[in-house]
Amino acid sequence: MSAVAEQAARRRTFAIISHPDAGKTTLTEKLLLFGGAIQMAGTVKGRKASRHATSDWMALEQQRGISVTTSVMQFPYNGCIVNLLDTPGHEDFSEDTYRTLTAVDSALMVIDAAKGVEARTIKLMEVCRLRDTPIVTFVNKLDREGRPPLELLDEVEKVLGLQCTPITWPVGMGRDFKGVYHLLEDRFYLYSGDKHRISEIETVDGLMNPAVAERFGSVYQTLRDEIELLQMAGTEFDLEQYRAAKQTPVFFGSAISNFGVRELLNGFTQWAPPPLPRTALVAGGEQTVPPGGERFSGFVFKIQANMDPKHRDRVAFLRVCSGIYRRGMLLHSVRLNAPVRIANALTFMASERETVDAAYPGDIIGLHNHGTIAIGDSFSEGETLRFTGIPNFAPELFRRVILKDPLKAKQLNKGLDQLSEEGATQVYRPVSNNDIILGAVGVLQFDVVQYRLKDEYGVDCVFEPVQVHCARWIEADTATQLEAFVDKNETRVAKDHYGDLVYLASSAVNLSMTQERFPDVRFLDTKEHG
Ligand code: G4P
Repeated sequence: MSAVAEQAARRRTFAIISHPDAGKTTLTEKLLLFGGAIQMAGTVKGRKASRHATSDWMALEQQRGISVTTSVMQFPYNGCIVNLLDTPGHEDFSEDTYRTLTAVDSALMVIDAAKGVEARTIKLMEVCRLRDTPIVTFVNKLDREGRPPLELLDEVEKVLGLQCTPITWPVGMGRDFKGVYHLLEDRFYLYSGDKHRISEIETVDGLMNPAVAERFGSVYQTLRDEIELLQMAGTEFDLEQYRAAKQTPVFFGSAISNFGVRELLNGFTQWAPPPLPRTALVAGGEQTVPPGGERFSGFVFKIQANMDPKHRDRVAFLRVCSGIYRRGMLLHSVRLNAPVRIANALTFMASERETVDAAYPGDIIGLHNHGTIAIGDSFSEGETLRFTGIPNFAPELFRRVILKDPLKAKQLNKGLDQLSEEGATQVYRPVSNNDIILGAVGVLQFDVVQYRLKDEYGVDCVFEPVQVHCARWIEADTATQLEAFVDKNETRVAKDHYGDLVYLASSAVNLSMTQERFPDVRFLDTKEHG
């Protein structure tokens, strides 16, 4: 095996998907503890945006240096190099999450045992299904009363269409929680209730072991009955089915007590897929790019401006798809068709940003960006190959930007352009006037943009409602058709940050009438980046 292929085979690149409050932050922290990436619980500052008011979120973001370094976390475990990509909790940032999911090879789904499958999990699973992303499931909070485990699995199967195959099974729950039974090992891991324990966990072998029956008391018979039912159902773990995203191995535990997490991580690192070949567009068609290929390639799935207040930089997050990134190497930007020298790429250990000497397929590196890198950009060593499938969503909320100090127009434009490069909000400039219209998927994004314009660019502005119902990118087979459309609809056509034409419909009726009147024009609600 080549050195690249060998390194690629060790990588496990994944994200955690869950509904807010299910325990993603807590679990992340415990995974990092086991991975030796942090020494102390309480180090990971979750993106608590999901549960706090906007103002709290702003304050939190001021500690950006801390919160954002946790957006990619790398640690070694079991001979693997694990790359955990964080996704924002708040649904107003869902675009960011969707794009991050294009950069992973698998996902870990966290479910609250009391709540089961919740709305946001369903949405995120839809995104995972687009790429058949394999899912490992962790049912969390067994230290509290929850719903019967069989019922939870039934719900996952029915609602998410994933066949469940339990790897561990809870013994009791809430006050009666005794631990988990590992079905593949025929071993019990016993729960002590000690929240800070990460090393020694008492184990006992054998479901039929009489010592176990005595120890567990009344919950033992329930366990036996449940295991019998599971065995009758006969859904054994099948690696191929899991990798095909048809089956999900399920673990039970309590993230806050560090319980069941090690078993989860062991199973995860053993089964989760290493980087898979990816499809790219090349001249004349498509090409499969194997991770073991010697030539470097990768794509940018996220851009974040001013990550570190001390550096005032913009960082583009690139997922390596093949070959090796080496420090100081000249990368070819496929979109610009030009070389870009990457001075120092960053790697993301849990607690700090470090300069990276080498990165392999599956790894994420941070590239300092001075405006030449956009979301969806592919990089290579000169080959013209473009990775696809990184979506740009049409926003659903719109505001007109009113600048308080007209002399700050230049800073305003710069700020808006940089923030829109992050993909969090979109900027539209109508072709017939000097308005600036912002589009976002969630209302919190407007507050964030307003705050950051002031904080990072010194620009005071307010946003006012504008008569826009939705934005659709427009395309036609010929330039003449498109020009004719723009001519007739000048007041409602704008350009996005990349100069692509967008139709800003005033209402749903307006959109459908316009579509009928101009059958040659295509109205698209997503645009491929890159
Ligand atoms: P999130 O990132 O998915 O939004 O969830 P997070 O980890 O922040 O957890 C949400 C709440 O659930 C937190 O409580 C957390 O302590 C609790 N939690 C997480 N895992 C477990 C578990 O295994 N058992 C129990 N009983 N609780 C768990 P909080 O009170 O909202 O916040 P905090 O003050 O404890 O941080």
